[in-house]
Amino acid sequence: MQNTTSLNFYSFNCRWVDYLKVFKCKICQEGYLGDAPPTHCPFCGAHQQYMIEARDFELPEYTLTDVSRRNLEEALDLEVSNAEFYFCAADRADNVADATMFKRLGKVESEHASTIVKELKKQSPDISRDRDMCSNMNLDNLEESNQRETNAIRHYTRFLGEATEDRIKEIFTAIIEIEKDHLSLTDGRF
Ligand SMILES: [Fe+2]
Ligand SMILES: [Fe+2]
Repeated sequence: MQNTTSLNFYSFNCRWVDYLKVFKCKICQEGYLGDAPPTHCPFCGAHQQYMIEARDFELPEYTLTDVSRRNLEEALDLEVSNAEFYFCAADRADNVADATMFKRLGKVESEHASTIVKELKKQSPDISRDRDMCSNMNLDNLEESNQRETNAIRHYTRFLGEATEDRIKEIFTAIIEIEKDHLSLTDGRF
């Protein structure tokens, strides 16, 4: 009979060493180690189509237009505000599922802010985790989440329409999909 040590050794050789691959998210540029790309980027939430093998990744070179620079700055403000709202809502949630959801949303929106500052070539903004910017009532925060995501989608759809750079179109297309995913989390809950 095999003991635990030999089972781990088997598993180590046959799965982790042979099949672990390095993936990279085209949107947030974070890495992921696995034998297959995840359905969603664990950092920014981008859909699987944006998770490519890291060796195939190339950072696109382009010049940012004034219109997209202004729109990215506005998007950055939205992402920072939404991240801070979600961290507040996580602290005040009245059940573990919503606390977990809000905390994860806070981290995803923070990653969106990081993605945007990379394109703006500026420093990451401070994102507070204890700002008083949400309700004490979980139900109110579910509704505000829905409103914030709706607002983000509306703005990003306009920014996408105004963008002429392929990279900026790709980012707004991906982030709109992600914010729509977020919207679905609270639909019908308040
Ligand atoms: Fe990502
Ligand atoms: Fe976002």
